[in-house]
Amino acid sequence: MNERNHAFLSAHPFEFVICSIHTGDGLDFYNGAFFKGKTQKEAYQRYFEICLETVENYEDYDIFGHLDYIIRYGGFRERRYVYEDHKETIEKILKTIIQKGKGIEINTSGLRYGLGMVHPTLDIMKAYKRLGGKIVTFGSDAHFVKDYYAGFDETIALLKEAGFDEIAVYEKRKPTFFKI
Ligand SMILES: [Fe+2]
Repeated sequence: MNERNHAFLSAHPFEFVICSIHTGDGLDFYNGAFFKGKTQKEAYQRYFEICLETVENYEDYDIFGHLDYIIRYGGFRERRYVYEDHKETIEKILKTIIQKGKGIEINTSGLRYGLGMVHPTLDIMKAYKRLGGKIVTFGSDAHFVKDYYAGFDETIALLKEAGFDEIAVYEKRKPTFFKI
């Protein structure tokens, strides 16, 4: 997989490469297969472990996408997680991302999907800042032009609350920073 991705990425002049996880242990989040036989907390913990295994073993990307978006899936009544329950794994993920010179995406799609939150949450953004994280890009997963900037004002406010005062935009795989 790594070699195939590397060959593909090297063959095209991408501006920006995002690493996003949409399945785990060969099972789909979207159709619920990943959640079978797991409690909500167990499923979320396994998801974060998979993210950690990924950032530890994979480097052909610039930005890690929508960390914590697992809460969209699984059909649970409360689509929330307790930061403290997964803190150790999440902070290892963030430290690895920072150490390897990568960044994270803050993704506004949760606001459109009725979750009332962006991915990742303020808890993660604060931890990322505290651990020395500097690179944050904006994403919206928009499929329509009207959604492209939806929630950006709210997200900028949240980023400021977490202690950030700039966001990154990538060109030719290099970030340029803009004040917010
Ligand atoms: Fe994604």
